[in-house]
Amino acid sequence: MIQLISPAKINLFLQVLRRGHDGYHELASLFQAIDLCDTMTIAQATQDKLQCDHPELPTDRTNLIWKAIDIFRQKTGLSTAVDIQLSKKIPMEAGLGGGSSNAATALWGINALLDYPVSTIELQSWAGEIGSDVAFFFSSGTAYCTGRGEKVRSLPPLSAQKIWVVKPQGGLSTPLVYKKLDAANLPSRDPLKPLAAFLAGSSKGSFFNDLEAPAFALMPSLLDLRNSLKAQGFEEVLLSGSGTAFFCLGNAIPAVEAVTAMPAHYLNRSLASWY
Ligand code: C5P
Repeated sequence: MIQLISPAKINLFLQVLRRGHDGYHELASLFQAIDLCDTMTIAQATQDKLQCDHPELPTDRTNLIWKAIDIFRQKTGLSTAVDIQLSKKIPMEAGLGGGSSNAATALWGINALLDYPVSTIELQSWAGEIGSDVAFFFSSGTAYCTGRGEKVRSLPPLSAQKIWVVKPQGGLSTPLVYKKLDAANLPSRDPLKPLAAFLAGSSKGSFFNDLEAPAFALMPSLLDLRNSLKAQGFEEVLLSGSGTAFFCLGNAIPAVEAVTAMPAHYLNRSLASWY
């Protein structure tokens, strides 16, 4: 049996470059893992089983965890059944990559359980078949991601940051947010500039997310929440991914009704072990 944490991610910047012919969008984004984590235990079993302490999470074969386990079995020819217990802390439909992180953790976990028959590089290459954000979790925890998000360049850890993750009630579906995006009128920027700024430790003004506009159009209360958090004195308040969670940097403490606020920190891993 093995127990692993399954961390959330935020996007320190997220630029949409263009809509691709396959319906996906080409991105340039700086991803950062954070210590807001689910917990997963994986054990060998005689029959597949997935149990979760969150009643709203589907545990049937549609769950990305099963997609990950099935890909592992297909690619390796190994037929191990697994009993997986999942304890959820990462809010869903939040843009925090919870489902993708769970899939990555299951892939790492089944490989660890079987004494590492597959290299991390190979696991990471399979991750893109599960979902666009899954490959990121095989990075160092800080990575510049391009393509659909599945092309991952690991970076050295950024300087430590305490953040607040603020999640209002109600979620947004990622495909819906991308559908609402005005892909013909995207700001043209060079994403290597904000990347260089983050790497140089001078990130002020380099936080942005092209998915904020469509997310705010779909849920106007998000803009009010952002403005209210800004007015509380945070230096940066940014939607993570397609929302509806924000992350806030600065010394204020969020005081907003009907939202959940969770403290977190940037999280990195050494490439020899999981988070
Ligand atoms: O890859 P994943 O299944 O996580 O993507 C969910 C949905 O988000 C896709 O079906 C697509 O509508 C949208 N998406 C996109 N461009 C990306 C990533 C996701 O349009 N780069």
